[in-house]
Amino acid sequence: MEKSIDQIRDEALADIETAPDSDSIKALSVKYLGRKGLLTLFLRHISTLPQEERPAAGKTANITKKQLEKRFSEAIERFDKINYSKEDRIDVSLPGRTAVQGVLHPVSQINLQICDIFKRLGFNVAEGPEVETDYYNFEALNFPKDHPARDMQDTFFVSDNIVLRTHTSPLQIRIMEKQAPPIRVIAPGKVYRCDSDLTHTPMFHQVEGLVVDKNISFGDLKGTLTAFVHQFFDEDISLRFRPSFFPFTEPSAEVDILCVICRGKGCRVCSQTGWLEVLGSGMVHPAVFENVNYDTTQYSGFAFGLGVDRMAMLKYGIDDIRKFFENDLRFLRQF
Ligand code: PHE
Repeated sequence: MEKSIDQIRDEALADIETAPDSDSIKALSVKYLGRKGLLTLFLRHISTLPQEERPAAGKTANITKKQLEKRFSEAIERFDKINYSKEDRIDVSLPGRTAVQGVLHPVSQINLQICDIFKRLGFNVAEGPEVETDYYNFEALNFPKDHPARDMQDTFFVSDNIVLRTHTSPLQIRIMEKQAPPIRVIAPGKVYRCDSDLTHTPMFHQVEGLVVDKNISFGDLKGTLTAFVHQFFDEDISLRFRPSFFPFTEPSAEVDILCVICRGKGCRVCSQTGWLEVLGSGMVHPAVFENVNYDTTQYSGFAFGLGVDRMAMLKYGIDDIRKFFENDLRFLRQF
């Protein structure tokens, strides 16, 4: 017998410690515990020892055998945990999977841009109901019952007295009812008209604007809207104020900008006129001030309403407004 049981055990433990994988552990277990393994041979060798040494030697050898068996199985288990199957293994060199992130709808983006510009000009933002009473949508805005101006607003009626608001102008009344001048506010929101073609959808978006204070003149209206158009489109775009009619403003003006597509030469988008209508505006009508008990001898003001979807079409060069609301992701993802 060349090696003692202690030597065999120490060598086995050292081998287990340095084994690189579970296959080499299995090979080591054969080397020590297999049929011709070192420990097995040692056990066999015990019977050749003198009678009185056998019990002690046998006992130590059996304890060592159990100890090694335990160490081998622990080591194999440890490697098995690391060596899970190839499919489960994480390839840390792969590029990460990015989470799909939504973007704001183009009309919402334009709406925010418009609001940002007016906020920088000192305007506050207000909101109001989309289902309105006849009073706020028409009556208080100086559209008497049966007045022909109501025809322009192809109205969805919920009942005789309740409508889907046809414009954001009811906010003018709601704001002035709650608040005394000075007022400098915009009101973005959805509006509804019974209309549908290339440039109209039954639901669309407007931003209303209202300024009331002492000494507000048509010059303030022009200055404010010119500053807005220049910031929204570009500094050189020409605009013109064309006389118009709204029951709640006097005088009233529609604002046209030089066609952003053809720069005034005439094209399909501007119907060969060279100009594009972008908003309605005017000085607040005294009848409207009277409806909210504002003193017309002290205060004057201007209001405007612009079509957000139309601004989006012009800014992005889109010729069919319905594209915004068909929910075709191929279209929407471009913005
Ligand atoms: N409410 C009008 C429309 O929708 C636009 C407008 C707003 C005109 C404010 C003048 C002043 O047609």
